[in-house]
Amino acid sequence: MEQLFVPGIFSFAESWSRKQLFVPGIFSFAESWSREQLFVPGIFSFAESRSREQLFVPGIFSFAESWSREQLFVPGIISFAESRSREQLFVPGIFSFAESRSRKQLFVPGIFTFSGICDIINRLDIILKGSITMQFKFSEKVAYLQASQIREILKYSADPEVISLAAGSPAPEALPAKELEELSKQILEEEPGIAFQYGVTEGYTPLRDEVKKILQKRGIFNPEYDDVVITSGAQQANELSAKVLCNEGDTLIVENPCFIGSLNAFKSYHVDLQGVTLEEDGINIAELEEKLKAGGVKLVYLIPNFQNPTGNTMSREKRKQAFDLCGKYGAVILEDNPYGDLRFAGEDIECIKEYDTEGRVIYSGTFSKILSPGIRVGYVCAHKDIIQKIVVCKQVADVHTTMWSQMLCYRFLKKYDLDEHLRKLRRVYEHKTGLMLSEIEKNFSSKITYTKPQGGLFIWCTLPEGVSTKQMIDFCTVAVRDYKVAIVPGSAFSIKDTDECRSFRLNFSTPTDEKIVRGIEILGKLSKEMFGD
Ligand SMILES: Cc1ncc(COP(=O)(O)O)c(C=O)c1O
Repeated sequence: MEQLFVPGIFSFAESWSRKQLFVPGIFSFAESWSREQLFVPGIFSFAESRSREQLFVPGIFSFAESWSREQLFVPGIISFAESRSREQLFVPGIFSFAESRSRKQLFVPGIFTFSGICDIINRLDIILKGSITMQFKFSEKVAYLQASQIREILKYSADPEVISLAAGSPAPEALPAKELEELSKQILEEEPGIAFQYGVTEGYTPLRDEVKKILQKRGIFNPEYDDVVITSGAQQANELSAKVLCNEGDTLIVENPCFIGSLNAFKSYHVDLQGVTLEEDGINIAELEEKLKAGGVKLVYLIPNFQNPTGNTMSREKRKQAFDLCGKYGAVILEDNPYGDLRFAGEDIECIKEYDTEGRVIYSGTFSKILSPGIRVGYVCAHKDIIQKIVVCKQVADVHTTMWSQMLCYRFLKKYDLDEHLRKLRRVYEHKTGLMLSEIEKNFSSKITYTKPQGGLFIWCTLPEGVSTKQMIDFCTVAVRDYKVAIVPGSAFSIKDTDECRSFRLNFSTPTDEKIVRGIEILGKLSKEMFGD
């Protein structure tokens, strides 16, 4: 950064990362690549940026506007801030108030406090008692990340009376708990010195080799140029893949709707996230090509099998088309496949990574849905050069994945027949999906449409045409608040807050049969009340 100060008159600072105009002694403000600001305190001030625009007239009024927030300040008199992600009202010297979907804030300058939406009342109490709390200035990377709406709704699930159809966890009866307990005991007795020690970042070598073998057999791992690193779940695999490839502002294409864990991971790297419509047979290819043609696309993130949240599976034809298009326009594909092993109907379709002959596809997998999500073991298979960078970033993130967990996965793969284990899981899921689908058929308003997945954990229901996002969210809210059935509003998976959405996600893996029947019956009644027979 370079700065020029002419105290008493003006000062100016400019750099690749920020531009500033100062009138020291009165006021000054700092700007960055993502915002430009000009202040002439006492008279007026103005800030404009890609991420926000601000106008300040201290003593008179001030105004700030942005895609992420809008603010109006009239210090000493009144101030107001509004945003898609937060709304704020400031009356310095008197009081100030901030409200948001994700948080509420109360400011009493001189005292000052900040509070989350849930504890605002407690904070008020603190203010009134005169306590001082910190105001945290979060980095721009994370300031606008919102708590997942799934988490918000899952809060209600803590009530034991709530039937949760909102989770994304494997069926409890599908977890091989007994086998894992037995293997865990053996590990602790036989190899505590490895289980409790640091390990290498790339992963526990026997597990890494085993994963390579499995992937090679499936045509996913190419020993000529691919490598594998064990990660702390597929979540970390996806996050690190975006981290090593994408600069701020690079375009990253995702299916719309898309898994929220990946969306938030990608957003935290300030990429230009662009959604492409997801259809029953996968991403809309014409839209994908249009976006690739526009240029600047670094990464295309796809969940081809039993997608979260829709349960949709990408057709073979679209997999090939997407692969060819990404090759033509120079984009890398991140293929996320946590549910591929959970196919209970239809024919297997090869992974996109199987078409790869040059290392264009990064493949991320996980033991979360087939063994246990709690042990946090996933993996990423990609070109050696990409893996090398991922290893460095993983070193920074968590040094390595828990040794005990990795050893557990390895021993499971060695001791048990994975295919037989998967057959057991598929039977469980086939039964649960069938039950939920037949209950939906019997109970739901006929105006609601829904997907019929051949694997995975989710069904995606869509309310009748004309229903607004707000009405959809109301439906989900009433369901959990008044009827104690938790479901996830589809807008939680939208790329932009402004995207219209009239869908919601149902999970059939976690609830018992009784809860599936009861939960769908309740939702059915409510759907008929709200949207007609
Ligand atoms: C599409 C998708 N990718 C990745 C993950 C993360 O899985 P893991 O538990 O392996 O981190 C999930 C979890 O639900 C998911 O649905």
